[in-house]
Amino acid sequence: MCGIVGYIGLPEKTSQHGALDVLLEGLRRLEYRGYDSAGVATVASGTVSMRKKSGKLANLLSEIEAEPMTEASVGIGHTRWATHGAPNDLNAHPHLADGDKLAVIHNGIIENFAQLKAKLVSTGETFASETDTEVAAKLIAQHFTATGGDLTEAMRLAANQLEGAFTLLAVHADQPDRVVASRRNSPLVVGLGDGENFLGSDVSGFIDFTREAVELEQDQVVTITTDDVAIINFDGSPAEGKRFSVNWDAAAAEKGGFGTFMEKEIHDQPKAVEDTLLGRTDASGRLVLDELRIDPEELKNISKIIVLACGTSAYAGMVAKYAIEHWVRVPVEVELSHEFRYRDPIIDDSTLIVSLSQSGETMDTLMAVRYAKEQGARTLAICNTNGSTIPRESDAVLYTHAGPEIAVASTKAFLAQITASYLLGLYMAQLRGKLFQGEIDDILADLHKIPGKIQEVLDGGEQIRELAREMAQAPSVLFLGRHVGYPVAMEGALKLKEIAYIHAEGFAAGELKHGPIALIDQGQPVFVVVPSPHGRDSLHAKVVSNIQEVRARGAKTITVAEAGDADVVDYSEQVFYVPETQPLLMPLLTTVPLQIFACALAAEKGYDVDQPRNLAKSVTVE
Ligand code: AGP
Repeated sequence: MCGIVGYIGLPEKTSQHGALDVLLEGLRRLEYRGYDSAGVATVASGTVSMRKKSGKLANLLSEIEAEPMTEASVGIGHTRWATHGAPNDLNAHPHLADGDKLAVIHNGIIENFAQLKAKLVSTGETFASETDTEVAAKLIAQHFTATGGDLTEAMRLAANQLEGAFTLLAVHADQPDRVVASRRNSPLVVGLGDGENFLGSDVSGFIDFTREAVELEQDQVVTITTDDVAIINFDGSPAEGKRFSVNWDAAAAEKGGFGTFMEKEIHDQPKAVEDTLLGRTDASGRLVLDELRIDPEELKNISKIIVLACGTSAYAGMVAKYAIEHWVRVPVEVELSHEFRYRDPIIDDSTLIVSLSQSGETMDTLMAVRYAKEQGARTLAICNTNGSTIPRESDAVLYTHAGPEIAVASTKAFLAQITASYLLGLYMAQLRGKLFQGEIDDILADLHKIPGKIQEVLDGGEQIRELAREMAQAPSVLFLGRHVGYPVAMEGALKLKEIAYIHAEGFAAGELKHGPIALIDQGQPVFVVVPSPHGRDSLHAKVVSNIQEVRARGAKTITVAEAGDADVVDYSEQVFYVPETQPLLMPLLTTVPLQIFACALAAEKGYDVDQPRNLAKSVTVE
């Protein structure tokens, strides 16, 4: 939540692209992290200039156009997801202090801000905003004066007074040769240039200018100048960052000819699955998960797996449960990260925690992983963002290779997470001898056919888009599924809620008769995710009965079924067929029509598909 960018360059470097351009380009790419307001501050000729505006980045751009800023080669920029204080101009970042010579931006929540503010007020400080950030700005300003004008030390001293989660960036007119930042429980990466350096909430903040980056650890302060990156810990001791190269380029984070990022990312899915499968076997076809860093012997002795995740990632976790339990014969629990650590869970060193996170920064999941580690569990992250906090703090990582996901509504990361979970399940089954090599080979061969099959679903997308246009006025849509179709139903409902603002619920089809069937009225749209007729017979037959039950009560039934499934035709207003595959792999196909449906319906209603109201891409607050 909140996008943060910082830049410093030699004047000749800056003249190539302009500091303001670098900051605004970074904000454009980071806007998915929050879009309640945006602002920038630059330092030139001994003064700080600032522009900030509520609403999307476009409002800030108009503001700058109306009142241009002077040329500068150092500055900071922010795009906000509001926590403390309404999303208005006053609460927008940056916040100024020290006679407007210091500008500060912030991501996170400072939990002890009220106490700190009370103390500052008692010493005569006044506040212009309702934010916790301004408290940090005042503290940095006080330390700046006390240290005789040392912004790095001022930042370090202030950071030590703060509790909670924060990334703070500051520039000061009296020390214009640097941008200083600190981080605790909130993301920050450094971009390395030649005669210029960058800071960003993630690498997309500077991907147009460099792909060389440095990861920071917890509780560190970093000072960037034109030719140096200096890191210290909060206790003042020197530290080294870990360097890495970003393996995707700026073009991967563009819309590629599609109207929205979400549409583009839905169409990226064949590649996301293919890339996630890439290079996972040795010459003899055996799975080798190199990044895993957990001793295979330990994985053999795992007695229980707990999958932790939120939102869409948690639905991927539910699919993982069905597959891993079936293949590995180890019990798998799936739990929302924010519920997990408050219920005194039973964990020991034979428990494997598998966290699923696209961003790798979701605070609820990070805190749950930390808690599990403290209790002695082994931790494995399935993550899409290289160098992010959750994989860094986990014992092992299995990266998904979906590429950057910009739309707030997750699509390709979901399919990539499911794919990686299958790989993990098959790998554990191989290690523990629970499947014959031939069986693993067959499943892998079917997995490798999935990208082509997703493409077939995408190619037939117009039928779904047409239905979405017809249904744009539906006040409520229900989704039903059984077995792996159940998490798919919930994901279909979540997509519709978050981007089309339509009331939607996903139910286990068998649960219907225990209450939700009372919701069915004449014309109520119900999507049903139908299991393969080639799986367990009873499962398919039961779902067909469920379709009949809701239809008999007036529902408009829309089914997503396997190609050739004739049993659903008589009971469906419309059928969307997906190609045949193994029953456990079906979510990789049945999810896609539901994503296309939500995306098209939201677009039909004229909503901002990529940046839905009230949401942000990375939820870095608890
Ligand atoms: C999905 O469309 C969401 N925007 C959201 O539920 C998301 O999946 C959740 O916040 C978890 O994020 P993560 O995968 O980055 O941890």
